[in-house]
Amino acid sequence: MEFAKLGYRVVGVDVSQKMLELAKAKAAKAGIEVRFIHGDMTQLFSVLSEENVAFPFDAVICMGNSLAHLLDEESFRKTLDEISKVLCSSGVLVFWVKNAKLIRDDLINRLMVDSLINEPDLSLALLCYTSRDKADPDILIWNSIYLIKDHGNLDFQVRTHPLKWFRHEKLAEILKSQRFKVIHTYGDTLGQKTFEEEKHDTIFLICQKMDAVRV
Ligand SMILES: C[S@@+](CC[C@H](N)C(=O)[O-])C[C@H]1O[C@@H](n2cnc3c(N)ncnc32)[C@H](O)[C@@H]1O
Repeated sequence: MEFAKLGYRVVGVDVSQKMLELAKAKAAKAGIEVRFIHGDMTQLFSVLSEENVAFPFDAVICMGNSLAHLLDEESFRKTLDEISKVLCSSGVLVFWVKNAKLIRDDLINRLMVDSLINEPDLSLALLCYTSRDKADPDILIWNSIYLIKDHGNLDFQVRTHPLKWFRHEKLAEILKSQRFKVIHTYGDTLGQKTFEEEKHDTIFLICQKMDAVRV
């Protein structure tokens, strides 16, 4: 949305209708124009083609740890391939994921309070319980428990999200083999500190699509 405010043509894609509704409401409130499309990023090329969206794009920006929902290497590679198909020559890919090297064992298998809100119309307690996936220890199962009192109505929701954490070396290898050149790797979501594997739990990457080699 920040890019739309700067005057760029922006298209937002999400597989969740609920998230799209929230994003639409935010854009309307800010008075900015963004085209929102319901679709799966692992099928990005056909999703955009079917909606008659004009591309290639100068940049694909995938924030909010969204690529963590791609749990296996095959779907991650497929998504990079789809992104490549909708990017212009030398187009830019920006995304961030979490660093598997810094998974904190002391936060696993513990019930914790994630956040508390206590306002006149909304009281919310978010508890979370994180466990490791049995088959892949770099996948953390984030179980969230919401206790919500909204305008006097009580609700209780439990959500489970398996999220993949990434090994930096492997990530760099996949990007290279999918023909993305890493321009810079930062260690925070604002892109301020150069990534250090032993220190930062976020891997924020600026990549560039490498053009096909002409023979
Ligand atoms: C943590 S949220 C981030 C939302 C938003 N991008 C942001 O930065 O605030 C991750 C988002 O990824 C979306 N998502 C997960 N798998 C997806 C997929 N295969 N295709 C498109 N969106 C997906 C989820 O629906 C969710 O909205």
